[in-house]
Amino acid sequence: MSAPTHIPVLLQEVIEALAVQPGGRYIDCTLGAGGHAAAILDRSSPGGQLLGIDADPEALRAAKARLEAYSSSTLLVNENFVDLEAISIKHDFLPVHGILFDLGLSSLQLNSQGRGFSFQHDAPLDMRFSPSQEVTAADIINTSSEAELAHLIKTYGEEGHSHQIAHRVVQERPINTTLQLVRTIEQAVGGRRGRLHPATKTFQALRIAVNHELEHLEAALKQAINLLGFEGRLVVISYHSLEDRIVKQLMQQESKDCICPPSTPICVCGHKASLRLINKRVITPSPAEIQLNPRSRSAKLRAAERIITRDEYYRTTEEHSFSVQLNAEGWRRPALLKKLRVAFSAV
Ligand SMILES: C[S@@+](CC[C@H](N)C(=O)[O-])C[C@H]1O[C@@H](n2cnc3c(N)ncnc32)[C@H](O)[C@@H]1O
Repeated sequence: MSAPTHIPVLLQEVIEALAVQPGGRYIDCTLGAGGHAAAILDRSSPGGQLLGIDADPEALRAAKARLEAYSSSTLLVNENFVDLEAISIKHDFLPVHGILFDLGLSSLQLNSQGRGFSFQHDAPLDMRFSPSQEVTAADIINTSSEAELAHLIKTYGEEGHSHQIAHRVVQERPINTTLQLVRTIEQAVGGRRGRLHPATKTFQALRIAVNHELEHLEAALKQAINLLGFEGRLVVISYHSLEDRIVKQLMQQESKDCICPPSTPICVCGHKASLRLINKRVITPSPAEIQLNPRSRSAKLRAAERIITRDEYYRTTEEHSFSVQLNAEGWRRPALLKKLRVAFSAV
């Protein structure tokens, strides 16, 4: 077994928020090095099962090695969680007791010399989670207009100097390596002021854009709710305010019976709550965890539980399965529904 290279963040809090139980079925949408997955499998033994997803084939290799001892209880797939619903149906892995998203990058990716995620190592400006993605950070840097770059750096990096950086980038192009970009940013805004390196926000913005992180998160969270069985748990750890805002807004909206604007005198939306918030206030790492693992310092954990009756669950799953049947290969609706009923009665 290879040595762990990524310390799982808020590990105990994740296990508690997921309410991991023996025999439970869980999906880890961001498998990474398999740290959370190993703890989930430990706690759900005997009989627990885990579907692990990661877009990065290198992460999947590391997780496979780490989870070797649990190979009979795990299914690890190299996919993007934007297809969560189809992945679960394809592998007949639903309903589930809990779904975890631990967003962003693993230390494996950040420390990898050739991936371009870090502004501390010189590398090609790549930043793709998966080599099957077409657009790299260099493509965005070298082909976007100055206005597009400024907008991207401002929106995804919340960078106050987006216009100066975009202007300088356009003057210096082509820019193909991380250190070339770091020098360009430093020339645009000067050296370090305060705790953050001047390139931090631009690198975050590019990574988010390359991997469509915010769009994929929003789409996957909505799909995740549908896969949860009775009182199934959704747990998300985010690392910056853009991610956290999406998680918070979705959980808050889905925990309300009416989402009409406050000015509407009578409810016209017909919305029904599908979630109950587990923690009203966000959970953050203790000072001791931050000291042990500084990477955890910006982590925010939110958790919610699915509200659904069994009848409602069967009905929506049937409707939902019908629409997915059209594009999921090799899937047989009657067989799946039979399995679903058996699995659901065990949840
Ligand atoms: C913070 S790490 C997870 C670490 C993991 N919890 C552990 O304990 O080792 C995030 C992982 O999510 C993966 N990831 C990010 N976005 C993804 C997406 N849209 N689909 C699939 N995997 C994704 C990244 O490749 C990375 O390996």
